[in-house]
Amino acid sequence: MTPGERRAAVMSYSVAIVGALLLQSVSSQNEPSISTSEHTTLSKESGTYTLQCNLTSSSPPQESYWMKNGEEIPETRSPNRQTEYKLNKPRGDDAGWYMCVYTFEMSPPANATIDIRSAPDIIGHKRSENKNEGQVAVLYCKSVGYPHPAWTWHKFDDGVHREIDNTSGRFFINSRDNYTELNIMDLDIVSDPGEYHCNATNMFGSRDQMILLRVRSNLAPLWPLLGVLAEIIILVVIIVVYEKRKKPEDLQDGESATKPTRPTTTRTRISARGIQTKRPVC
Ligand SMILES: *[C@@H]1O[C@H](CO)[C@@H](O)[C@H](O)[C@H]1NC(C)=O
Ligand SMILES: *[C@@H]1O[C@H](CO)[C@@H](O)[C@H](O)[C@H]1NC(C)=O
Ligand SMILES: *[C@@H]1O[C@H](CO)[C@@H](O)[C@H](O)[C@H]1NC(C)=O
Ligand SMILES: *[C@@H]1O[C@H](CO)[C@@H](O)[C@H](O)[C@H]1NC(C)=O
Ligand SMILES: *[C@@H]1O[C@H](CO)[C@@H](O)[C@H](O)[C@H]1NC(C)=O
Repeated sequence: MTPGERRAAVMSYSVAIVGALLLQSVSSQNEPSISTSEHTTLSKESGTYTLQCNLTSSSPPQESYWMKNGEEIPETRSPNRQTEYKLNKPRGDDAGWYMCVYTFEMSPPANATIDIRSAPDIIGHKRSENKNEGQVAVLYCKSVGYPHPAWTWHKFDDGVHREIDNTSGRFFINSRDNYTELNIMDLDIVSDPGEYHCNATNMFGSRDQMILLRVRSNLAPLWPLLGVLAEIIILVVIIVVYEKRKKPEDLQDGESATKPTRPTTTRTRISARGIQTKRPVC
């Protein structure tokens, strides 16, 4: 299609819409008609992209402005029949549905939409989640791109991606538009840890992100305490062994044992001496 043909196609499209509107509401010949630039799919090479609307019939507008995804874009109000909105080096989050709106003094507003589409991109996700068994894990992903993607979740197990296996009934997926959340209740230390993937797919492409889930034992908070206990036991064992080995030397030469001939800890030596001083009693 040459640009001329394309423009003609767009024109005839808007003429058709206006025609339909005219059939519905028997109104004056002043019915507004808007010609717009075309729906576009963003690619990596897109430079500046300009959205255009021309009000081609009706009385002059009071004002025009632009909206994106249903919200007014600030500082786009102008009194002109022709209005533009520039996207500089558009990225994924510039994709969406844009609308130019014309308001009139005497008649209701008129509008036209332009879709800027793109493949999804996952722009935010939880990189890893560390929880204790029995707790709830919350994994999420956020996307840009338009139309909003369909979301799926997978687990990477034994070298294959499996759709989340929900036989346990503990998995809940909550997806809306550009956001998806996977909740895993009552975490299991054996079956739940691993690589989870959120997958965003629309007609222009698909993206995937990995989130690592670690599940610790409920005993984990006790480990430091067990560590201290172990240290005490080892210390006691060292003292006892030291004492046993020292005895024959003591019999030969009572004073030599106090010399730091062997690398021992101060505490051990003090205790050893303590026990030594008690020996004459027994
Ligand atoms: C809007 O009008 C301008 C000036 O007449 C023209 O250059 C442009 O191509 C028009 N755009 C559309 C989408 O019709
Ligand atoms: C756009 O126009 C349609 C009908 O043509 C109307 O239902 C809708 O409310 C308008 N939207 C805005 C934001 O003006
Ligand atoms: C998993 O099973 C539970 C209970 O049957 C259900 O409520 C939930 O929606 C299921 N989740 C998924 C992702 O299928
Ligand atoms: C996701 O969509 C909501 C509503 O459409 C919007 O407010 C929010 O900014 C979007 N988030 C991203 C990251 O695009
Ligand atoms: C996402 O899922 C779709 C549909 O199952 C699949 O075709 C696509 O390859 C997946 N994308 C990635 C990046 O894994």
